[in-house]
Amino acid sequence: MNVVRASVFFVYIISISPVIIAQSEFMEAISSPIKLYSDNTDGFVVIGHRGASAYYPENTMTAFKAALEMGAEMIELDILLSKDGVPVVIHDETLNRTTNSQGLVNEYTADELQAMDAGSWFAPAFAGEPIPTLEDVLAFAKGKIAVNIEIKTEAVTDVVGGGIEQKSLELVKQFGMEEYVLFSSFDYRAIAHLRELDDDVATALLYEKKQSGNKTPVQLVSEYKANAFNCSYRQFNKKRASKLRAHNIPVFVYTVNKEKRMRKLIKKGVTGIFSDKPDLLSRLVDNMWENN
Ligand code: G3P
Repeated sequence: MNVVRASVFFVYIISISPVIIAQSEFMEAISSPIKLYSDNTDGFVVIGHRGASAYYPENTMTAFKAALEMGAEMIELDILLSKDGVPVVIHDETLNRTTNSQGLVNEYTADELQAMDAGSWFAPAFAGEPIPTLEDVLAFAKGKIAVNIEIKTEAVTDVVGGGIEQKSLELVKQFGMEEYVLFSSFDYRAIAHLRELDDDVATALLYEKKQSGNKTPVQLVSEYKANAFNCSYRQFNKKRASKLRAHNIPVFVYTVNKEKRMRKLIKKGVTGIFSDKPDLLSRLVDNMWENN
């Protein structure tokens, strides 16, 4: 699908006059701070939010594999630490909503977590779907799909080394995926720690009003030496959009499942959109290029 997008974009670029480019209702996307494995020349990134989580249990291998099949170029996932310090892929601090167990994730070892059922809550057909470790997902993703690793706030401490940031960064390096991974967090300490641990790793600030005080997105990105700004579509207003654009800061917007909203954001030049329905987003992007 991306090959189609790439060639449509190329034909589009060479067949229109500069005047039409100037009048285009599309703003060019600011390029992604990480590489993609897919052949993408339009600069826009289709992201499967927790995998293809509208159709499969979120943050499971089945959801990630489906996202890739549906045309996602990046998967987004959430990580916490198990009792024995292994980065595991799950969104909530407790197991209650998305597994057949109860209690805190960090009260169980990685082996115990992997034996749990993270699929039945979604539909009986997914019974026995395990909680993946970050290592499981990276082993699958390497060479196929870029990854946005969201470090959950509950796992972040004041300590720079030895925690979830260092453990996940080491795994990414072990798989040689440094250029294909974007780390993000609502806890800006994680972003600061990652930068202390590595000069080059790509990070994105997840916008959180309480933590951000009166600082603007541009100030925050610069203060934390981040590479991108991630926010909800509700927070992506005109003023923010133009300030970020003026500073050449890529913006990734979550979680957008409605076609009309996707279209509007793409026209505004966002670098990527997180969607639970990467199939819908991927098709829309293809059609937008074909028709413009
Ligand atoms: O990382 C984008 C988005 O997933 C952030 O919100 O609540 O899903 O972690 P949340």
